[in-house]
Amino acid sequence: MKEFPAPYQVMESLAGYINRAYRDQREKQEGVIQFHLTYKNERLDCYLRFAPEGVSLSKGVAKDPAVTVKSTLYHWLDLAAGRLNPLIGILTGKLRFSGDTSFFSKVMSEEIFGTDISEYDDPVTDFEKRPHKYWRIPERVLVLNASPRAGQGYTEFYLEAFLRGLGKTCASIDMVYLAEQRINRCRGCWYCWLSGTGNCVFKDKDDFEKINQRYEDADLVVFAFPLYIDGMPSLLKDFLERTVCHYHPYMIRGHHRTRHPRRKRKKQAVVVFSVSGFPELDNFRAVKEHFRQITHNSHQPIVAEIYRPAGMYLYNNPLLYRELNEVMEALEMAGEEVGRYGKLSRKTLKVIQQRIDRVSDFRRLSNLFWKEKIRDNDRTY
Ligand SMILES: Cc1cc2nc3c(=O)[nH]c(=O)nc-3n(C[C@H](O)[C@H](O)[C@H](O)COP(=O)(O)O)c2cc1C
Repeated sequence: MKEFPAPYQVMESLAGYINRAYRDQREKQEGVIQFHLTYKNERLDCYLRFAPEGVSLSKGVAKDPAVTVKSTLYHWLDLAAGRLNPLIGILTGKLRFSGDTSFFSKVMSEEIFGTDISEYDDPVTDFEKRPHKYWRIPERVLVLNASPRAGQGYTEFYLEAFLRGLGKTCASIDMVYLAEQRINRCRGCWYCWLSGTGNCVFKDKDDFEKINQRYEDADLVVFAFPLYIDGMPSLLKDFLERTVCHYHPYMIRGHHRTRHPRRKRKKQAVVVFSVSGFPELDNFRAVKEHFRQITHNSHQPIVAEIYRPAGMYLYNNPLLYRELNEVMEALEMAGEEVGRYGKLSRKTLKVIQQRIDRVSDFRRLSNLFWKEKIRDNDRTY
C-alpha cells in the first residue's frame, strides 16, 4: 500500500524540483536556506544547501544560513507554489524571514515547476473542430465490433446495413471482432510511457498490436457494440485502455480541457454505433457522454453517432416489419452519407432512431417473448 508521505519526504520532493531548476541557472548562488516549519503538532527543522554541485536537503539546523524561514509547512508550500505572495505572507505573519532575503529570492525566483515541452505540442486541429468541412472519402475504415456474440448478434445485423452504405463510397472496410481476439488488460504499469517508446509490455504477447497497426492506419474508425450495463462492453473498454500507448505522457491544452499529445498524428474520425435492449433513446446517454470525452482525448472527431434502441425487439416483432425495413434502409443511407460527406443528415438519423410502438406494448410483447423462450427451453436469441 502507498504510505502517506511524511513532511520531510514532501520537502525532499520539493528539493528535487528546486535542484533541477538550480542546475539550469547560469549564475549559481551559494548558501543555505534554513527552515523551521510546523506541521500539525510536529516541528520540522531542515535546510537547503545551494552549492555548485547542486541543491541538497538535510535535517537539523545549519551553522551559517544565509536566510531563515519560519512558518507552517502549508504556508511555505503556498509560497513555493506561488499561491502566497511573500510580502502578504510577511505582513500577515504567515511567513517570518530573517537574514539575507535577497538570497532567497535569487534562488527561488527562477521557474521551478515547469519544463519546455513545446516540441510535443499537438493543438486542436480544424479537422477536429469541423471534420465535414475538411472531409475526404476515407481510404481505410476499421470497424471494431465489440459484441461478445461477434458476427451472430444484433449489433452485427444492424451494422451490416450501415457498412453496406459505407462500402458504396469507401473501398477498404476492415472488420475486427474483438470477441475473437486475445487482448490483455492494461495493467497500468506505464511501461509505454516510461520507456519513451510507446511500446506496451504486452507487445507481441497478444493480438493488440496487430489490430493497433490497422487502427493507426485507418481514416475512419467505427466502434460498434451492444449496450452493456449502460455502457460499452468490457471487450471494447479493454481495447481502448490499451490505446494509452498512443500518447506521450505530457500534458497539453485540448478543447477546454487537458489531454496528451499523440505519438502519431493522423486525420482520423470516429463513428459510434450501438444497439440496446431497452426502448428509450435516453439509455445511450452515458455512452454519448463517454465517447465525447474519449474522442476529445484521442483527438478524433465523431462524425456520426448511431444508436438504435430496442434492437432485439424490432428484429423479432413481426408487427414491426415495416419499421425494421425503414431502419435498415436508413442505416444504409447513413453509411453512404458518412462516407461521402463525413456527417449524417437529421432526416436519416430520425428514421434510424424512430420510436417503435408504445413503450407499454414493448413491455408486454417482450415479456411474452422471454416467457415463451424459457417455457420452450429455447436458447436462441
Ligand atoms: C450483460 C448484458 C448487459 C446488458 N445491459 C443493457 C443495458 O444496460 N441497457 C440496455 O438497453 N440493454 C442492455 N443489454 C441488452 C443488449 O444491449 C441487447 O440485447 C443487444 O441487442 C445485444 O446485442 P448483440 O446481440 O450484438 O450482443 C444487455 C445485455 C447483456 C448481455
